[in-house]
Amino acid sequence: MHCISLALALSAAALVSAAPANAKQNPICNTQDKNRPGLNAGGPAGLYWMSNEPNGNFVFTANLDNDGKMLFGDAVYAGGNGAHMGPDTSKPNPLQSQGSVKVVGDKLVVVNAGSDTASVFQIDFQNPAFIRMIGQPISTQGNFPVSATIDVTTGNACILNAGEKNGVSCYTVDLRKGLVPIPNSVRSLNLKLKTPPENPDNTPSQILFSDDGKRLFASVKGSKDNTGFLAVWTVNDDGSLSPDFEKNVPNGGANPASLTVVRGADALMNTDIGKGLNIFDFTKSNNNKTKAETQDFQVGGSSHVAWGEFSDATRNYYISDSDTATYTELSIDPKNPNNVKGVKQYPQKKGSFPIDQEVVLINGKDHAYLLSPGAMTMQILDLVAPGDAQQRDSFDLTQAAKNIGVTLNAANMQGVNAFFTG
Ligand SMILES: *[C@@H]1O[C@H](CO)[C@@H](O)[C@H](O)[C@H]1NC(C)=O
Repeated sequence: MHCISLALALSAAALVSAAPANAKQNPICNTQDKNRPGLNAGGPAGLYWMSNEPNGNFVFTANLDNDGKMLFGDAVYAGGNGAHMGPDTSKPNPLQSQGSVKVVGDKLVVVNAGSDTASVFQIDFQNPAFIRMIGQPISTQGNFPVSATIDVTTGNACILNAGEKNGVSCYTVDLRKGLVPIPNSVRSLNLKLKTPPENPDNTPSQILFSDDGKRLFASVKGSKDNTGFLAVWTVNDDGSLSPDFEKNVPNGGANPASLTVVRGADALMNTDIGKGLNIFDFTKSNNNKTKAETQDFQVGGSSHVAWGEFSDATRNYYISDSDTATYTELSIDPKNPNNVKGVKQYPQKKGSFPIDQEVVLINGKDHAYLLSPGAMTMQILDLVAPGDAQQRDSFDLTQAAKNIGVTLNAANMQGVNAFFTG
């Protein structure tokens, strides 16, 4: 059972003003569920990842306290099924994507790759581990959705489909109905793929709005015969998209994965599997800023680097490599985004296989959370200063799931994102 949110409980508290002054707990939720200690722990932040199980996808939640410590919250049905692309469905990283769970503000969008649907949730400001679905899951108007993005300004969401019918589609978020399709926003990537994809070759990786919401980016991996690319659409005022996308083929790169905006520059940091990194720089672009100059970078010893984040506290970038279990810190000069420097590498537990990651700012300090299916943990690091990330405790995912009887498998789980206000 869920507790009623503290926001609602506060008005109830006013009605029971005769209650003893020391009755500190939520009056509607007066029995603490020991298996869900974070559910009404009161924030200030929340962390979310998904089970992506083929028999029912669940969003797992945790409360983050003032020090970034995780307290398990709940697992909430995402309204559809998960899925796993080929060739080996017993190995982790099922969607080969970043952004399968996406949080912006107090909204969370999650994809159900096995049902071709997506759902939107409201995050409770007072109790971030408490989330509630808005409306019903909707069709993503394509197959095998793997990634979502939300525009900070309009609140509109777009989804990336990676199956037979691949491409993007966009939605407004209605506070009663949930995701509502935007006309003229379904666009194809024209890729020859199956549902589910037989292997990661040529599959889409991540979808992302530009910071001003005027462009929509999608990264696509390559294969032996094709180089991957970055697709860029322009977004119209009504949320519809340009009919065609601009295709940017990275110079030297081959397998575009995650996308991160380079702060203070009109550029993207793009992890490139096997190689390291591409920078897409739009500074000298055409009028609609869709054409990028690209530069590739080799990241030392990298084998499968596919996830990237920015830290507001250190102003540096962090990328994770699942196969070598390495977390790498980089600096990128906003005045010249092609000036990329390796800062430090932080080896993770051997075999922990860190995939999706999130950097969360709490009280001016950043903490990194690495979803690590190889160890069935969330590995936590404190990003103390540039060049100084301190390994901390790890959170046991298996135990949390077991305590509430919801399945979480190393091979299937994917995605991690956070709610925080800084
Ligand atoms: C961007 O503008 C160029 C001309 O400068 C045009 O050829 C292209 O189709 C436009 N692309 C998009 C995605 O709007």
